Parts: sequence; structure tokens; C-alpha cells
Amino acid sequence: MINNDILCVGVVDRKIDLFEGMYRVPDGVTYNSYVVKGEKISVVDSVDAHFSGEWLSNIDKALDGKSPDYLIVQHMEPDHSGSLSAFVEKYPETVVVGNQKTFVMMGEYFGEGFPANRLVVKDGDTLDLGGRVLKFIFAPMVHWPEVMFTYDENSATLFSADAFGAFGTGDGWDDEARRYYIGIVGKYGVQVTAVLNKVGGYKIDTIAPLHGQTLCGEKLAHAVDLYKKWAGYQPETDGVLIAYTSVYGHTKAAAQLLYDELVARGVDAKIVDLARDDWAECVAQAFKYSKLVVATTTYNATIFPAAREYIDRLVERNYKNRTVAFIENGTWAPVCAKLMRAQFETCKDITFAQNSVKIHSALSAESRAQVIALADELAK
Ligand code: FEO
Repeated sequence: MINNDILCVGVVDRKIDLFEGMYRVPDGVTYNSYVVKGEKISVVDSVDAHFSGEWLSNIDKALDGKSPDYLIVQHMEPDHSGSLSAFVEKYPETVVVGNQKTFVMMGEYFGEGFPANRLVVKDGDTLDLGGRVLKFIFAPMVHWPEVMFTYDENSATLFSADAFGAFGTGDGWDDEARRYYIGIVGKYGVQVTAVLNKVGGYKIDTIAPLHGQTLCGEKLAHAVDLYKKWAGYQPETDGVLIAYTSVYGHTKAAAQLLYDELVARGVDAKIVDLARDDWAECVAQAFKYSKLVVATTTYNATIFPAAREYIDRLVERNYKNRTVAFIENGTWAPVCAKLMRAQFETCKDITFAQNSVKIHSALSAESRAQVIALADELAK
């Protein structure tokens, strides 16, 4: 419950194995939905199809058996729209509110002409519930083209669709919101910045996203601050992420030596194993830190797969504004540093460290000295 007139009727999914078929969610994920009461009543967004019954039951309880007048559809991705047909079957008189793009997608998912009762809104349109006016703010590509936010001036609540959403069900926000944002919305920083600017002049006391907790007070201010950084591709932390793969432990030893040398110099450093740690967390951490070192081997005359895929994932999310360095290992014909550099050269505003490390099979006095030189440079 946000207040007496805005009730949470969403559900918690603890059974899902991979969100969007690719993101691990060990603590589950919530599909949030809200009931907003004026003289008339609107529901804001639906939930995943596996939870139609629970969601409709939550609405029933919140409305004491009354029927809602409207269902606002802010986002058509199935984690939020999967229960629309069950809703329309139960409440055929309810008017479904969306924009032109929303209804094109709705037709694709549920059949041409679905639903019969609809209200098509434009950016900036309002919906008067009686004693409460909702305003629609289009937020294209945050994270699909039809996305819109809904602003309730009465309670200064912004229903923010996927924006400000987080994986998990716990109290912490930063890590799971970052992993969600960078993984799912990170490519669209320009569009996120545009909509943050668009709502910048609104009085907002509560942000009600479609995943995770609602935000208010200091948490809200902190979340907005982080979102501005993420959307602007600015690092949160001046420090170094070392992301390594290691076949027999020798590359790991070099990565660990660099980590120890950085910590000894007072640098905020973190080390991750790209083959074993959660890939989405490794990607999110690269966006958190200002500097990145990728340590890996040449494999099949290219970059070891987990490292190559990692860099692909950074590039596709518009990784930029960072310093990048390499540790490469190869028993014969090492080429991965050159190939990694070529991948990062497709990103904007990447500074390559002057020092790099080349290991032939195992650390030697020469490659140890290169690690020390790299640590010195990154600590400056
Ligand atoms: Fe939570 Fe873009 O769906």
C-alpha cells in the first residue's frame, strides 16, 4: 500500500529460473501492479500470465468485489501484459488505456481488435478519475517503444514502468536495480536521460516501478542520483574492476596479483571470474567502476569465449567513458589483447591504459613487472 487510495496488487515470482530467459533471479522478481482510487478506479498494469489468478484475486480484495473502471497498460512486455486477456474476460466493461503503439502490440499478442473497450491516449493526456487526475508521460525505449509513465499529481506518485525497477524481493536496492538497469535498459541511456529530464520538474514523493520496491524519501533521491549516472554512462565509483578467465590458474594468478597491488595502493578494486560468476552482475560491475581490466587467454586463435562474450555484452550496452586495460596469456601466438582492443575500439570515449601485461604460459619476472607497472598507472 502506498496510501489509502493507491494499493499494491502485484505478485512475487519465486519460481522463475531465468528472467527474460537469460537473467538469474535467485531471490525471485516481483511483477508490480497498482489499484488507484478516485471516484472512479483504475488498475495500473497487469502481471505475468502464470499469476493471473493471484493477481485478479488481489484486485478483488482491494476493490471489495467492485469492478475497476480502467486498466492502464504502461508496458506491453509479457511480464506485465501476460494477464490482460484474463482481466478482460473477467472485466469486459473495463476500459483498457494505452497509446497507439500499445494497442498495435496488444493486437499482436492477443488478436486483432483486442480489447473492444479501449481508450487511446497521447503524450501529456490526462485521465480524470474524479478527485484524482492521472497524466500520461511517454517514455519510449524505457524499455520498449510503447512505454509510458503515469503521474498522479494528487499523491505526487510517478508510476515509472520498468524504470527504477529491480530484481529480487529484498530491501537492498542498488545492486539488483543496477543489474536490472544495465542488463535490460542499459542500451537506452539517451532515452532514459530524456525521460528523467521530462519528469525533472514534477514533484515526486513516490516512485512506483513495475519490479521491486516502491521508492520514497532518501531512497528515492539516492535512486534518482544513481539513475542519472547510469543513464549518462558515468561511473559510480572511481576504482578498478578486474574481470578474468583462467584455464589452469595462471591468468587468475596475474589478475589476483594486480588486485593485491591495487588494494595495496589504496584503490577500490573488485575481481570477478567471467566463467563462474553471474554474467549480468559482471556486466553491471563494469558500468559501476571507472576502470576495467580484462585478463584472459587466447583460445582457438581468438579470445577465450567467456571474455569475448563479456566484451560483446558491454559493447551492445553502449559501454563508454571508461579506462580499459588488458592482461593476455598465451603459450604460443597470443592475439587476444589485440582482438579485445579492437572490440573496445567500437565503443565511444574509451581510454586505453598505456601499460598492458603479456604472459607466456605463467607469470615470470618480466610479466610480474608489467603487472606492477599497470597497477601504478591505474592507481594514479
Ligand atoms: Fe519488466 Fe520491459 O518488462
